[in-house]
Amino acid sequence: MTALDATAPGSVTPGPAAPPFAVIGGAQVQQALQGRERRVTELVTAAYRLHSAGDSVNPPSCFLRFPDRPSARIIALPASIGGQLRVDGVKWISSFPENVAAGLPRASAVLILNDHDTGYPFACLESSIISATRTAALAAAAASALSQDRDRPVRAGFFGTGLIARYIHTFLAGTGWSFEEIGVHDLSASSAAGFRGYLEQSGAGGQITVHDQPEQLIRSSDLVVFATVAGQPHVTELAWFAHNPVVLHVSLRDLAPEILLASANVVDDVQHCLQANTSPHLAEQLTGNRDFLDGTLDDVLAGRVRLPAGRPAVFSPFGLGVLDLAVGKYVYDEAARSGQLHLIDGFFHELRRYG
Ligand SMILES: NC(=O)c1ccc[n+]([C@@H]2O[C@H](COP(=O)([O-])OP(=O)(O)OC[C@H]3O[C@@H](n4cnc5c(N)ncnc54)[C@H](O)[C@@H]3O)[C@@H](O)[C@H]2O)c1
Repeated sequence: MTALDATAPGSVTPGPAAPPFAVIGGAQVQQALQGRERRVTELVTAAYRLHSAGDSVNPPSCFLRFPDRPSARIIALPASIGGQLRVDGVKWISSFPENVAAGLPRASAVLILNDHDTGYPFACLESSIISATRTAALAAAAASALSQDRDRPVRAGFFGTGLIARYIHTFLAGTGWSFEEIGVHDLSASSAAGFRGYLEQSGAGGQITVHDQPEQLIRSSDLVVFATVAGQPHVTELAWFAHNPVVLHVSLRDLAPEILLASANVVDDVQHCLQANTSPHLAEQLTGNRDFLDGTLDDVLAGRVRLPAGRPAVFSPFGLGVLDLAVGKYVYDEAARSGQLHLIDGFFHELRRYG
């Protein structure tokens, strides 16, 4: 905390120290995270496991939707995490899919961090990068965990190839994955071409194939990453999964419930994931129970659950606010450590109880 001497003219008692407030823009966030995929995956996994052990508060996300803009939404993810992180906060993230056609990213976000002891907000961070980072880091951790009891995938398929797909590839590559073949499929030819360009520039190696048909992509991939913006299931053919791939179902609503019912299913958090008409939620509605769930990613990481190799292994992560807090706090600490915190002087102003 940087103390501010708020002694008023003519006053003999010093005023209270104003808690500091920092603003951290996207360039600073990116600087703190880029190239640190292993470190960030470790810290996201540790925060996730802390949450699973109960050292967090992570209430349901609050969805703001609009009758006049049905494809859009803004979600609030309040959370609190303990351990050494000890920080509270909220991510406020917009999804406006039509932005993409206008040349803007679909998602935009801020993250507010609140001080554990005073409750004061102490930072506002650009958070589309933080959100993509925590999503990709947990997906990379899940890819390894779900592959434990089967041949490690060497053919990756990206189904929906926007910003999240790019981050997931970056985190897979940055945590030791390499692929002999990478398949690409997107409804938009320009998105598929853009992603292909990214892969070539990244030096990913391996053969890159753009598939016009979803069937080709899935049948030729033993690690399938879904990162579309589909609102309801559009993949319904169980036969496409006969080779039992590992599936990172990050966009949550692509797979027909019948496919999940024939698969081993892992979620990040059961309460969170079985809502908002995600595919696991549809599977629960179809069967009236949760028997199709094998467990959480924490169960798999801890060895409490082993996944049968003879079925597709599907990870459906709802996305937890505690993970945004963990990455945001890391970024904040990096900015503070390097002396680059941009503090807003006098942000908190009315500090004397009686003026
Ligand atoms: N689970 C989580 O924690 C989490 C976190 C962040 C984002 N997400 C989800 O990831 C998804 C992707 O986000 P993004 O920022 O990359 O979006 P984006 O708009 O940048 O990219 C999405 C791509 O999917 C393509 N697409 C849409 N429907 C398709 C379909 N049926 N078949 C093939 N391609 C299709 C679009 O053409 C587009 O290129 C979103 O659904 C978002 O909600 C999940």
